Amino acid sequence: MSKISIIGAGPGALDLMTQRAIKRLREAEVLVWTDSLIPQNILTLCKENCECIATSSLTLEQILPILINAAEQGKKVVRLHDGDPCLFGALSEQIQLLEKAKIQVEVIPGISAYQATAAALNSELTIPGITQTIILSRASGRTGTPEREGLEKLASTNASLCLYLSARHVSSVEKTLLNFYPEDTPVAIGYRVSWEDEWIKIVPLKKMASTSQEKGLIRTTIYIISPGLDVKNKRSNLYNSNHKHLFRSQ
Ligand SMILES: C[S@@+](CC[C@H](N)C(=O)[O-])C[C@H]1O[C@@H](n2cnc3c(N)ncnc32)[C@H](O)[C@@H]1O
Repeated sequence: MSKISIIGAGPGALDLMTQRAIKRLREAEVLVWTDSLIPQNILTLCKENCECIATSSLTLEQILPILINAAEQGKKVVRLHDGDPCLFGALSEQIQLLEKAKIQVEVIPGISAYQATAAALNSELTIPGITQTIILSRASGRTGTPEREGLEKLASTNASLCLYLSARHVSSVEKTLLNFYPEDTPVAIGYRVSWEDEWIKIVPLKKMASTSQEKGLIRTTIYIISPGLDVKNKRSNLYNSNHKHLFRSQ
């Protein structure tokens, strides 16, 4: 059966890819990649004669025949998405059509932008007593979000809120969030996290929009709004000597 590997490239830095993803990339004979969100140097991992096709200007109707034809010819085909393919990557529609064409699909996960950003800041997003929940979402924009997942509803939890694809809507996002989070809630703004020109800053919520606009951020930007980002002197039960559990009964 013909096969395609759909791979998460991670946030950008080559050494943040999984070993399995790198192996598939090195073996690929045809690479179809999301060039608008992945640094060009990823191509250095491919064989010299690998056919590399960028998708930023293509439609699903153009991408699918490329994948299917190459797989049916028995070639090793990789579809490369930024971050983790299960997040905002139009994965589902591609898999459905590939399976309809009787192509076997393998998905290899990648590190998502929110994880790379939290790591770059040496931060934990689930701090006991502060928040135990991470929400991954986006400003509504042209794609829209179901009404029950409106930003107001998400913000009302005061959880760690990671917003993808939202830089163009940052003013209205900030305005909505200020109705729910205190104005000095820390917001991590991450632009091209792990790329060579990475820029990350933590600002108070009330400066989320102005900072983004001053920096001219429109694309490849993630926001993490989290009361956990500036927590000091909080400790969990996990390594607390008063807390007994299966592996530490004494
Ligand atoms: C189409 S979505 C794909 C998300 C991706 N699948 C992931 O798991 O990170 C693209 C959005 O992800 C975020 N993003 C992806 N890579 C990023 C990076 N290196 N730095 C900051 N944001 C990033 C931005 O919000 C960008 O607009």
